[in-house]
Amino acid sequence: MVKVITYGTFDLFHQGHVNLLQRAKKLGDYLIVGVTTEHFDEARGKVNVVDSCLERIENVRKTGLADEIIIEDHDGQKIEDIQKYNINIFTVGSDWIGTFDYLNTFCKVIYLERTPDISSTMIRSNQFHIVKVGIIGTGRIAARFMAEEKYVSGMNIISAFNTETESGTAFQKKYGVVTYSKNYKQFLKGIDAVYIASPNETHYEYAKKAIQEGKHVLCENPIALKKQDAIELFQLAKEQGVVLLEGIKTAYCPGFQQLINTARSGQIGEIRDVVACFTRLADPDARECIDNKFGGAFLEYAAYTLLPIFKLYGTNYKDVKIHSIHREDGLDLYTKIDLIYDQGMATAKCGVGVKTEGQLVISGSKGYILAESPWWLTKKFKIRYEDPNKVETFEPKFQGDGLRYEMSEFVAQINKIGKNKYLLTQNEIVAMSEITEIFLQKRLQEWFSKEPF
Ligand code: CTP
Repeated sequence: MVKVITYGTFDLFHQGHVNLLQRAKKLGDYLIVGVTTEHFDEARGKVNVVDSCLERIENVRKTGLADEIIIEDHDGQKIEDIQKYNINIFTVGSDWIGTFDYLNTFCKVIYLERTPDISSTMIRSNQFHIVKVGIIGTGRIAARFMAEEKYVSGMNIISAFNTETESGTAFQKKYGVVTYSKNYKQFLKGIDAVYIASPNETHYEYAKKAIQEGKHVLCENPIALKKQDAIELFQLAKEQGVVLLEGIKTAYCPGFQQLINTARSGQIGEIRDVVACFTRLADPDARECIDNKFGGAFLEYAAYTLLPIFKLYGTNYKDVKIHSIHREDGLDLYTKIDLIYDQGMATAKCGVGVKTEGQLVISGSKGYILAESPWWLTKKFKIRYEDPNKVETFEPKFQGDGLRYEMSEFVAQINKIGKNKYLLTQNEIVAMSEITEIFLQKRLQEWFSKEPF
């Protein structure tokens, strides 16, 4: 009996897939089809798959061509499968020519002619129109966003807005963005969505106006500096039927979810303490160091450090205390946020003028999780126990600088196929703005007593 194996994502099942499976079947007597898991696709950069793994399996099954369907979930699995199932022929479409030649050591490799003019990517872009995005603010973060754009299908950054002409036109030239505008109303015309990467104190106003004009909003953190403003933005977005997403990229990184869910699974017992720390000695000319009112450590990093705390304990904290080390003009160089919950305690530490170990430690009754810097991208974490010899290490896949995950979730939610709203909830965002408001009120009283907030 000649056994044949083939693999694929088989998203939005199409004629090209059917033809491939028919020809693969004809190569032998028994056909095994490997269907990729969501996690595996995500890890290899396919972040826009629409159908779930079960739907994709079902579509392959319905063709009646597969004698057996298996799941593909890790690199190197093809060699394992070929040996395990005594495969004679490995086959795949001609778009992969050369890629799988290394399997010739284990079986025969055949590349089948690909059906022209059809692909899942093509169907995705026909089914969902390309989201036209305008970028607000043309600084450091905007540049990172541009660099990640090419890895996210379904969106196109076409325009930029900045009140400062020099920065705006330089950005337009550097990134080939179609238009640049100084006029916000004008800028909002002709786009579907905005990405807000302007100074912190401007986020709320830009977001509000964009939502009122029916635009989807992806806003860098903090989305608002007051709790009520955050609530209002979500209310407005609901009324206008648009997506409002906050850009805390950690929330969308696959490894971070794995870390949080590992902690929640009881593996380290009852969670009693969470300490999250993020410091970066910033360039003295950077916005976070210049702006003593809306810059500083808290506004730069608190969202990242509060995130694991809210994920693990929820947003109903019993008490919060914020302490900062200030520069002479009131800018916080280092801030500690202590939270007390019924079940445990937590500390979020942020710094732009104090350097310390950037780590996330989740302590439980049976052991603890340690994620070292850059834990906010969560490329690696460990579980450690009383017995120092017992250590479990996890190394989730991670691509680029992480922004692509939040960008693709934004596009998916706009297209109403986003299934991951739980990654960062409205409750969590509102709770963050509540703590931000407490922090800023304190700063106002202590340092800017005569000026309004
Ligand atoms: N395939 C094919 N002809 C097409 C499209 C796909 O023969 N027009 C083959 C691929 O070469 C592969 C299998 O079908 O062997 C599964 O491909 P998959 O990557 O799932 O489909 P694509 O349409 O290529 O998906 P995408 O656009 O997301 O890359």
